[in-house]
Amino acid sequence: MSTDALFRPIQIKSMTLANRIAMAPMTRSFSPGGVPTRDVVDYYRRRAENGVGLIISEGTGVARPASLNDPNVPRFHGEGELAAWKDVIEAVHAAGGKMAPQLWHVGAVRTREAEWTPPGPYDSPSGLSSPGKQFGEPMSDAEVADAVDAFAKAAGAAKALGFDSIELHGAHGYLIDQFFWHGVNVREDRWGGKTLPERSRFAVEILKAVRREVGEDYPVIIRLSQWKQQDFNVKLAADPKEMEAWLSPLADAGADVFHCSQRRFWEPEFEGSDLNFAGWARKLTGKPTITVGSVGLSGEFIAAYGGEASQPASLDGLLERLERDEFDLVAVGRALLQDPEWVVKVRDGRENELKSFERSAMAVLY
Ligand SMILES: Cc1cc2nc3c(=O)[nH]c(=O)nc-3n(C[C@H](O)[C@H](O)[C@H](O)COP(=O)(O)O)c2cc1C
Repeated sequence: MSTDALFRPIQIKSMTLANRIAMAPMTRSFSPGGVPTRDVVDYYRRRAENGVGLIISEGTGVARPASLNDPNVPRFHGEGELAAWKDVIEAVHAAGGKMAPQLWHVGAVRTREAEWTPPGPYDSPSGLSSPGKQFGEPMSDAEVADAVDAFAKAAGAAKALGFDSIELHGAHGYLIDQFFWHGVNVREDRWGGKTLPERSRFAVEILKAVRREVGEDYPVIIRLSQWKQQDFNVKLAADPKEMEAWLSPLADAGADVFHCSQRRFWEPEFEGSDLNFAGWARKLTGKPTITVGSVGLSGEFIAAYGGEASQPASLDGLLERLERDEFDLVAVGRALLQDPEWVVKVRDGRENELKSFERSAMAVLY
């Protein structure tokens, strides 16, 4: 099947992308002390040289004491950290690429290194890491306001450094998603509530503050997922009506693009329609959307963490959906982690050169 649908340009506000392929955000933990190294610069440069339309960075921490759970994950605040990110975006631009940092706060998610704890208390809406599981203290109003401000400042810094866009990490059970999720947001003040639109206030306030910081014409992406790392079966929105009530206020507050995270992009979001999450988000909001999840690979990423290898898989099902404009962009994770040349190989029909994904690739910056 022709791959032409992947290689059409797209304009999103001030950003023009050469094609529809985004590199999915992937934490790599190669930034000791929170500062991206030269190897990290070169890792992103290789994706830009090899035709990725939009590189979305690994999650990078905003300025709250416990925004990260790993000392080797890059921060997006502080002089040395931002100087290193400037090297990243300059290298990407010199190679003809476009890039957005993924702005991240992990919230109540345990540290990944036994020997290390963050330099301050964990932030979370209700002090729960999963339903019924106490982890810390609920954030005070002042702490919530400071977290909103931290996201906005990071977005402003991204624009000032020359990044083409920013992505807010509102998915996978991290801080922003913890506010969305009734299972861990049991607040009864203005940051909580019985309905999803009420619990979306934290994301809405972040989007508004980001928009004030970056201006009208700068593209803002928000990544969302129904599933949580704490529970793959959670569905924040049970039907299209609830999904619309969730997404419309986010669009009104300043989200230009919805990055709809699924583990397998072909799974329908609701009964009675083939549309996936990105398909529904586009239909309900009219905004451009990004799909993701096992593109070009036989297995999904959580199993990959457990050691399962994935083989190259046909793109036909994806291409059919893209040709129908079910969604606008396609994010590719592991295939691009394993192989910086994945896009040019797909473009040039070099299918027999596509690589399998091996867990060992996570320990290397190819
Ligand atoms: C090593 C690794 C690190 C990841 N880190 C992040 C992250 O920092 N932020 C995020 O939103 N998703 C993260 N993800 C999820 C990916 O962005 C993507 O949604 C997932 O891998 C599915 O895409 P794939 O099947 O093409 O790999 C990570 C995935 C992997 C494999």
